[in-house]
Amino acid sequence: MPSNNLFESISLGLMRLPNRVVMAPMTRARTAQPGDIPSIEMATYYAQRASAGLIITEATQISQQGQGYSFTPGIYSEAQVQGWRRVTQEVHDAGGRIVLQLWHVGRMSHPSFHTDGMPVAPSALAPNAQVWVVGSDGIGRMLECPVPRALSAIDIQNVIADFRHGAANAMRAGFDGVEIHGGNGYLIDQFLRTTSNHRTDEYGGTLENRIRFACDVASAVVTEIGAARTGIRIAPFITQRNMNCPDIITATLALAERLEAMQVAYIHLAEADWDDAPQIDDGFRQKLRQTYQGKIMVAGNYSAARAEAILAGGLVDLVAFGRPFIANPDLPKRFMLNAPLAEFDPSTLFGGNAQGYIDYPSLS
Ligand SMILES: Cc1cc2nc3c(=O)[nH]c(=O)nc-3n(C[C@H](O)[C@H](O)[C@H](O)COP(=O)(O)O)c2cc1C
Repeated sequence: MPSNNLFESISLGLMRLPNRVVMAPMTRARTAQPGDIPSIEMATYYAQRASAGLIITEATQISQQGQGYSFTPGIYSEAQVQGWRRVTQEVHDAGGRIVLQLWHVGRMSHPSFHTDGMPVAPSALAPNAQVWVVGSDGIGRMLECPVPRALSAIDIQNVIADFRHGAANAMRAGFDGVEIHGGNGYLIDQFLRTTSNHRTDEYGGTLENRIRFACDVASAVVTEIGAARTGIRIAPFITQRNMNCPDIITATLALAERLEAMQVAYIHLAEADWDDAPQIDDGFRQKLRQTYQGKIMVAGNYSAARAEAILAGGLVDLVAFGRPFIANPDLPKRFMLNAPLAEFDPSTLFGGNAQGYIDYPSLS
């Protein structure tokens, strides 16, 4: 085994990545307003990080209904597509590769984003969580997510169509592919779990029914843009946001079997998010590897050393880094040189301007 696996190139769908240091999706809430349009600064930010093997964009809502936080970008209006076009152009000009994370928050939202009433979900069950909303006074506050409205059978088909439309728009915007956001307690994850899905129709109840929405979304996206351009992120190990489902590992493996049949390019495991950091046993990793032949990516508190150790074990193919990329735009080079990593300023993570966004320097 080479000791620096992180720097071995690898194919991912139609792409050839020069290294396995992936930039994880990170919401930064810096779109141009009105209209949640990707800004010029966003193009600069992503282009600065083009030395990543792959960039996965921040989560991007596929519809107004799919939004749950202020200033996150969309991929449903023409202005948003044009804004993203500038981002992909600059990343490609800088030699990088970039996929768009397609997002519907489901119940992780607030009525202020919904002209027609409540946020939507598989069932009318609140997540016991809050979202960041900037009011008309310009001040951001964490607001409680209310009890959502349960999606009707027709609503579900409309949301699947919105995912498909988002994937088509991503292609028009020049992306190399998409990552379906199936994790972190958002809409797709809400369908997977017994804790958030109490439906009695074909989208709830049995395991087969609970994975149906994720499968239908993946299938719609694959039909639109091809399996080689489609990845999916899942987060089976999270427990917050009322998501602690005893059956989620079984559901995840059943879903992986379907994704294998569809030949989806990769599965991205969000292992730990922020402070939620469970231990993942090798038994699960082995079962996933046996079930699914595509590429497996992991993220969550990885250092270069931990990343190389897990790659060397052969159970994963790529490692995504979130927070380390914020203040270290040239992270792969720093890993390669074993250079010290800069710390980011937590007060400029969400919203704001260029400060704490595009002013972190690369090594000279
Ligand atoms: C500021 C911030 C924003 C994030 N936004 C997203 C997001 O939009 N989509 C997503 O799937 N995960 C999101 N995450 C989770 C990261 O992709 C990643 O899984 C997490 O930060 C753990 O990796 P790390 O320890 O390398 O930061 C976010 C994390 C951070 C720190």
